[in-house]
Amino acid sequence: MGGLYEQAVQVLRNNDRGGFTAPAQGLYPYQWLWDSGFNAMGWLHLDERRAWQELFSLFEGQWPDGMVPHIVFHKKQESYFPGPEVWGTVGRGCASSVITQPPILATAVRYLYEHARDHAFARESAKALYPRILAYHRWLYQARDPNRTGLVAVVHPWATGMDNSPAWDEPLRRVPTEGVPPYERKDLLYAKPEERPRKEEYDRYLWLLYFFRRLNFDQRAIFRESPFKVIDVGFNAILHRANQDLYALAVMLGEEPHEIQEWIVEAQVGFQALWDREDNFYYSLDLITGRRIRVKTSAGFLPLFAGIPGEGRARRLAEHFREWVRHVRYALPSVHPLEPSFEGTRYWRGPVWVNVNWMLAEAFWDYGYDDLAERLRNDTLELIRRFGFREYYHPKTGEGRGGKDFSWTAALALVWRLLTRDEDAPAA
Ligand code: DGY
Repeated sequence: MGGLYEQAVQVLRNNDRGGFTAPAQGLYPYQWLWDSGFNAMGWLHLDERRAWQELFSLFEGQWPDGMVPHIVFHKKQESYFPGPEVWGTVGRGCASSVITQPPILATAVRYLYEHARDHAFARESAKALYPRILAYHRWLYQARDPNRTGLVAVVHPWATGMDNSPAWDEPLRRVPTEGVPPYERKDLLYAKPEERPRKEEYDRYLWLLYFFRRLNFDQRAIFRESPFKVIDVGFNAILHRANQDLYALAVMLGEEPHEIQEWIVEAQVGFQALWDREDNFYYSLDLITGRRIRVKTSAGFLPLFAGIPGEGRARRLAEHFREWVRHVRYALPSVHPLEPSFEGTRYWRGPVWVNVNWMLAEAFWDYGYDDLAERLRNDTLELIRRFGFREYYHPKTGEGRGGKDFSWTAALALVWRLLTRDEDAPAA
């Protein structure tokens, strides 16, 4: 069975599908965008070439207009719904979904580049990936911020990566369900219903998918007409961080970073609209109503990962963090435990997620809140030790939920050096 370090390595190796990493056996058999970013960083500690390969595989699914889809369907698998034929992209290059996901890719490339041992290979790979990421970010601004607010919209909850976050409840209620053909969920074969989004959400997820198909994937029309259109604070924080990492890469690779600089400046202005002075917290914005969505979710902390808040706002967020964790055993619940929508077991409605813990710990270290960063690290380690490499964990009991042997949980444990080979060695 081996120690924890060995188990983390095994999780990645077992989920390796030859060039890309499935997030979890059965439940997620294809390649997902933001999973790939975190997984590539984990692979770096095992196999440097394989780490770069993860990102090249993902870009096989990039669309000619620059869009990077949230799922790339390299090879048909029966265990997942909705597959490529439902998305309607079979035969269109590499079959994929038609929406994107939090753009962590430039951050991953910078991480691989800066931690490389094979510098020549890293430079060659980063040079090859740089224009593809630039085209992707350009697409995000052209297709999802046509009015140049500095913040990009998402048109589907799946694009936020935090599918059933209660922040989406109200905007999603406007999405109809009529006309969705009968379907059979496969996720429920691998995870308990109480750990997954509800049917009323799935019906709407699918309505949007078929709506985008009816619009023939015309991205302008999708932006104009989607009944679900939000500025997700988490997505934009990850993008803003990615732009700074892309800027750093441009400088290191001798590329012209002017356009990236503009995105960075415009986002700094745009983020002002997401700060709520009454609650001293960041919220997403519903573009249909023009109102901030005042539900406290872990995404509201992510502007710290992007270096957005100044000292004062960072202090307020640190206070929020301390208050949130008083209600739970393990940091950080994905929803404030006193929100009426909090459910400790259900996906993005309360459980702890390791990728958020990692991003936030990085942020707290940068802002000098070392105690909070340590708390996130230690809690994550304890969760893994007690309950394994799960997809998410109940913040009160710690019990693992969702997928088992989840790739980014293992990958980030390696990135974070939570687990080392030494730890596996028998005590002297
Ligand atoms: C799923 O299938 O649950 C995914 O989150 C969609 O991307």
